[in-house]
Amino acid sequence: MPGLPPSSKLITMAIVLTVLLLGLGGAAHGRRRLVSDDEDEPCKKMTLYYHDILYNGVNNTANATSAASTKPTALSTTHWKNGTYFGTLVTFDDPMTAGKALPVAGEEPVARAQGFYLYDKQESYNSWFGFSIVFNSTAHKGTINLLGANLMDEKTRDLSVGGGTGDFFMTRGICTLKLDAAEGAVYFRLKMDIKLYECYV
Ligand SMILES: *[C@@H]1O[C@H](CO)[C@@H](O)[C@H](O)[C@H]1NC(C)=O
Ligand SMILES: *[C@@H]1O[C@H](CO)[C@@H](O)[C@H](O)[C@H]1NC(C)=O
Ligand SMILES: *[C@@H]1O[C@H](CO)[C@@H](O)[C@H](O)[C@H]1NC(C)=O
Ligand SMILES: *[C@@H]1O[C@H](CO)[C@@H](O)[C@H](O)[C@H]1NC(C)=O
Repeated sequence: MPGLPPSSKLITMAIVLTVLLLGLGGAAHGRRRLVSDDEDEPCKKMTLYYHDILYNGVNNTANATSAASTKPTALSTTHWKNGTYFGTLVTFDDPMTAGKALPVAGEEPVARAQGFYLYDKQESYNSWFGFSIVFNSTAHKGTINLLGANLMDEKTRDLSVGGGTGDFFMTRGICTLKLDAAEGAVYFRLKMDIKLYECYV
């Protein structure tokens, strides 16, 4: 800037730098909110398999990733002769994978599902899920938090994605799940299609 005294040049440069730095800071910390009102076009989606390996009470202590935290209530075992586990809470720390196979020894799962389901119907099996999908890998860090009724009489069930943290900051959406495999009373696998309709990127 010809004609300006050296000190004003410095001040001008300082202002330009400050504006630049503020701009960069804004880009690093601010997020854009994407909202979709089209059920078929979530702002993010992923499919994960949930593996629940139940403690059998005998010999699978090391392998089990879930266990009943309460006993069935007297109501569910005496009044309902067929035993619907009414009132039983199951706590889990289950591996989640991108494919159907369980992680082999030493392999890190994509994420872990940590939380509980509670049997909450007297006449038949039905449960309520409350859990977080915890991501801690180079691909993703953060949580997706899910809750809702697992209406077991339906072929597919929808849980709410009520929020998220980290890479999934403040997200919301729907998780459609269905039973994908079962082995007696010790193992079942759910396919979970997670569709996010509110994303902060
Ligand atoms: C564990 O116990 C179950 C029955 O509760 C039995 O079927 C299975 O063979 C046992 N497995 C081992 C490795 O002992
Ligand atoms: C369970 O038993 C109750 C009666 O004790 C009956 O009303 C109900 O239909 C039974 N449910 C199933 C799934 O068989
Ligand atoms: C995430 O992974 C890192 C590195 O493996 C580990 O140090 C840390 O404890 C993990 N955090 C959680 C919450 O599991
Ligand atoms: C752990 O449980 C799963 C599901 O039942 C089974 O497929 C697998 O063989 C078990 N692994 C061991 C080491 O017992």
